[in-house]
Amino acid sequence: ALPTMDYRVADLSLADFGRREITLAEHEMPGLMAMRVTYGPQQPLAGARIAGSLHMTIQTAVLIETLVELGAEVRWASCNIFSTQDHAAAAIAVGQGTTDAPKGQPVFAWKGESLDEYWWAATQTFRWPDGQLPTMILDDGGDATLLVHLAAKHQGAGTLPDPADATNDEERALFGALRTSLEEGIVDWVAVAGSIQGVTEETTTGVMRLYQAAQEGSLLWPAINVNDAVTKSKFDNIYGVRHSLIDGINRATDVLIGGKVAVVCGYGDVGKGCAQSLRGQGARVIVTEIDPICALQAAMDGYQVATLDDVVGIGDIFVTATGNLDVISAEQMSQMKHQAIVGNIGHFDNEIDMAGVAAWDGIKRITIKPQVDEWIFPDGHGVLVLSEGRLLNLGNATGHPSFVMSNSFTNQVLGQIELWTKHDTYPVGVHRLPKHLDELVARLHLDSLGVRLSKLTPKQAAYLGVPVEGPYKPDFYRY
Ligand code: NAI
Repeated sequence: ALPTMDYRVADLSLADFGRREITLAEHEMPGLMAMRVTYGPQQPLAGARIAGSLHMTIQTAVLIETLVELGAEVRWASCNIFSTQDHAAAAIAVGQGTTDAPKGQPVFAWKGESLDEYWWAATQTFRWPDGQLPTMILDDGGDATLLVHLAAKHQGAGTLPDPADATNDEERALFGALRTSLEEGIVDWVAVAGSIQGVTEETTTGVMRLYQAAQEGSLLWPAINVNDAVTKSKFDNIYGVRHSLIDGINRATDVLIGGKVAVVCGYGDVGKGCAQSLRGQGARVIVTEIDPICALQAAMDGYQVATLDDVVGIGDIFVTATGNLDVISAEQMSQMKHQAIVGNIGHFDNEIDMAGVAAWDGIKRITIKPQVDEWIFPDGHGVLVLSEGRLLNLGNATGHPSFVMSNSFTNQVLGQIELWTKHDTYPVGVHRLPKHLDELVARLHLDSLGVRLSKLTPKQAAYLGVPVEGPYKPDFYRY
């Protein structure tokens, strides 16, 4: 436990509500609870000081408390300005203490941060007390990793980032927070960069950033690509999204989805989950893709595949799920039907050109409620934008439910244990968890669903050329 409790959350009095929901979530997170039982006594994360940057939700609270039960110390921020569940953050701050004397974990997260506050919170996760340094990063989208790389580079060269050099608001806020932190000199970023042993990364976009850094030779530490564990991207990105996409649309708009035309941009894992959930509600789903394989998959799954320009005037609901930028332009939004709904479920807000919409000549913004805006074009037609173009399932709803996040987060815990206890065996670069751990994560989630697994006979195992106890598939198998 830390000698001084520092935190910033919206409202500590929400802690009891948060704790009640954490207790419910624990029952739905058998993988994480099994980690506590199996590894708790060994304390494999003893000595690890983890800087965490991941949506501060109820499910993340169970992850945080699992890491702590395994011996780690943590400091936490959210990886999105709208995704924090304030009762979860409060419960983590209060811990075993009271609202008057909180004794939980240092957490810096609240729903509706400004961009400046977001990057301030990120820097706080690296500001450990008593001259201690963080030793691990647990990242979602790569912002914490980016922050340390950039800060250490500037501090090492004796330079300061200039917000005037930024190309967008996000960067301007990052450069500003970094500049303040370098001027204050409270965090020794070069020392932080040197003490980090590794990073585990949650999502497709963060993994893409890691591979790019590794390729250009700038990556400082070994990284574990949690996203591409089968029990992560083939579950969270598909089934998690299948649940939380329509949850977000419903809570935001309450519009009947059945009968509508829904356009899903991107038919990767997340896009597949989106298309399934919208079809499940009775929407007619149209997919856009740039990859011929995914386009063909969408067609074989029974979806019309079109270009956005071809369908921009007939869609009622548009969802971007590409992890790419500039997918829906302001021009395209100007051509949509009155009260078309536009939302993004990819990691960053650059999929929809919100800056272009805001700068549209004569446009008016009416905030219907937090995270739901109607943008009215000069011709009088309006488009409903969810969460200002940030991931709508976490901005308008509560993200993925516990059971699927238990799969993702069990991989996170295993990744942290791997990198912390065996960092000598992981060179700088991007690694995936070994397949036997992927299969273990799945195994831990079978019992609570009543799954009865068949067992290979030794003769069958020999015939297939796999061990009776697994792993069962080669690395190139695609599930
Ligand atoms: P993916 O790589 O499997 O799929 C993205 C697809 O978009 C690819 O098939 C690609 O060909 C396609 N694409 C790229 N540019 C396009 C364009 N201009 N038009 C149409 N299609 C285009 O990635 P995945 O795992 O589906 O993730 C997508 C995004 O969602 C990432 O940013 C990821 O970090 C994020 N994500 C969000 C979650 C959430 O809860 N909101 C959960 C998991 C991932």
